[in-house]
This record gives sequence, C-alpha cells and structure tokens, in this order.
Amino acid sequence: TDEELEIAFQNKVDAEQRIEPKDWMPDRYRQTLIRQMSQHAHSEIVGMLPEGNWLTRAPSLKRKAVLMAKIQDEGGHGLYLYSATETLGISRDEMYEQLHSGKAKYSSIFNYPTLTWADVGAIGWLVDGAAITNQIALCRCSYGPYARAMVKICKEESFHQRQGYEIMMTMAQGTAEQREMAQDALNRWWWPSLMMFGPNDTNSPQSAQSMKWKIKRQSNDELRQKFVDATVPQAKFLNLRIPDDDLVWNEERKAHDFGEIDWVEFKNVVKGNGLCNRERLKARVDAHDGGKWVRDAALAYANKQKLRAVD
Ligand code: ACO
Repeated sequence: TDEELEIAFQNKVDAEQRIEPKDWMPDRYRQTLIRQMSQHAHSEIVGMLPEGNWLTRAPSLKRKAVLMAKIQDEGGHGLYLYSATETLGISRDEMYEQLHSGKAKYSSIFNYPTLTWADVGAIGWLVDGAAITNQIALCRCSYGPYARAMVKICKEESFHQRQGYEIMMTMAQGTAEQREMAQDALNRWWWPSLMMFGPNDTNSPQSAQSMKWKIKRQSNDELRQKFVDATVPQAKFLNLRIPDDDLVWNEERKAHDFGEIDWVEFKNVVKGNGLCNRERLKARVDAHDGGKWVRDAALAYANKQKLRAVD
C-alpha cells in the first residue's frame, strides 16, 4: 500500500540513502522538490539581471571579463537546476510559464537595484556568501540530482564570493569616495541578504516537513546565524560598518545577536511589489519572446536531421 511505501521511503531517507529519479517517492516530496528546485533555478536566471546592469560599465577590462564569467556561471547553474528539476516530471516549458506568468517565486534579493559599481562587490560578497551558506547544506539533500548539482554550484559560488570581497577590499582601501560607495552598498544589501534565508523558523510553513525529508538539513534561522557570524569579521577587516545597532557578540551563545528583519518589506518583495520585480519579470519575458526564433530554428533543424536519418 501507499502507506507501506511511504514508511519504506522515510526509512531510506533516515538511513541517509539518496532518492533517485526512478525511485518511488511520496507525491508531496516530489511537489516540494519541484517547488524549491524550480524557485532556485529561477533565482539563478533572474540573478543574472542585476549584475548584467554593470557589464557595460565595469571599470576595467579585467573586471568586465571576471563579471562576464560570473554571470555566465549563474546561467549555467540555472540550466543545471532546470535539468535536475525535469527529472521529477515537470517540463522546462511549464517551469518557464510559471516564472513568466508571475506564479512562481524566485529569491527576493534579486528585486533590488544595482545603483553603483560597489553593488557588484556587495552582491558577490553578501548575496553569494549567503547563497553558499544555504547551498552547502543542500549538498547533502536527500534527492540525488539536486545534491549533486549543488557540489559544482558551490565551488563556483565560492569563486563569486571571493571576487565580490576583492572588489569591496579594493574600494574600501581606495579614495574617500570609493569607501563611501562601499559603505553605501553594504548599507543597502545587508538586510535583503539576511532575508534570503526566508522567514523565521517559527513562521516557516515548509520547514518541518522538508527537514523530516532531509531536503533541508539546517533551518532558516540556523543558516542565517551562520552567515552573520561568518560575515561580521569580514566587515571588520574591510573597516566597514554593518548597518545594525543591535548587532553584538553574545559570549554565552558564542554567536552574534542581531536586529529584527523588516518582515513587511520581505513580504512585499515576495508578493511582487519590490523595487524591481516588474522590471525583472519583463526582462525575462522579453528575452524568452525575443529568443523564440532561435528555438524555432533549432527545432526545424532537428526535425530536418531526423527526416534525413530516416532516408
Ligand atoms: N525570496 C522569495 N521567497 C522566499 C524567500 C526569499 N528569500 N524565502 C522564503 N520564500 C518563500 C518560500 O519559497 C516559500 O514559498 P512557497 O511555500 O509559496 O513555495 C515561503 O516563502 C515560505 O518559506 P519557507 O517555509 O521557509 O520555505 P522553504 O522551506 O522552501 O525555505 C528557502 C525557503 C530557504 C529559500 C529554501 O526554499 C531554499 O533553500 N531554496 C534553495 C536555495 C535558493 O533558492 N536560493 C536562491 C537564491 S541564491 C542564488 O540564486 C544565487
């Protein structure tokens, strides 16, 4: 019966055995993975946009080449994750449709604007830093294709984080104006980066079940704490100030206490009312529509090859 299958499934998960695409799995496990993995894929693809904004204005040829490589990596992560999600029985067209119609979520962080070059540094340092913290845990996810995809993605994210930190270091040690730009970028990106980890554990409807299935290995708050503790010394080294008056080392907990996230802002951005939500979606829809002739041509060519093979 389904009940027996589900018990066997949970035992397998508890025994740390990976679930593979052709294995039996509860439908809710499948749907949860489709939800999380497709949101993750969308985030990678939409995440190319804020940084793409600075490609034509990177301050040197070297910076431009590095940024271009990084943005291409993000595109690769997206494609990788879409493929991994397809193993669960949803088509790429369906996933695109969900993104383009505004039905699917993607990470709140990519709905903020990149106003100066220092934002490219702050994104690499903070946004990719937060992404790695979350994704290291996902390398041990119970679903094989997702866990394996994360290994390669984490290696690349770690390069992204370093390139961002190096930009911040250059600017923090530069002219007074450059320092100010670096501080301003930190001020604007700090809180949205903390929001990337999702709602507090007490407010996270998906967490309990996802932890039981070992899709998630650590809770939203645990990962957020890890990120804060890792990032505070990095900010100190840059001699920049994290914009949180409540941020203080707690000797008892051996961790930093920090201020309350503006959850009203978080909810607004997730609902589609952030500063750039409409612009980001429009850019994706336009790119998809603009690329239709390429897909059509590729299909026509593939069909022609197929016919030739029959002859
Ligand atoms: N932005 C947008 N939506 C969010 C965010 C966020 N920062 N955080 C949580 N949500 C959504 C969840 O997707 C969920 O939506 P749904 O139930 O309608 O699908 C809802 O808010 C409730 O949150 P949780 O119950 O905590 O959901 P979940 O267990 O899925 O945890 C998390 C959220 C931590 C983001 C998880 O989905 C995850 O680890 N995803 C994979 C990592 C990822 O997507 N990273 C993207 C950014 S990194 C990058 O692209 C470089």
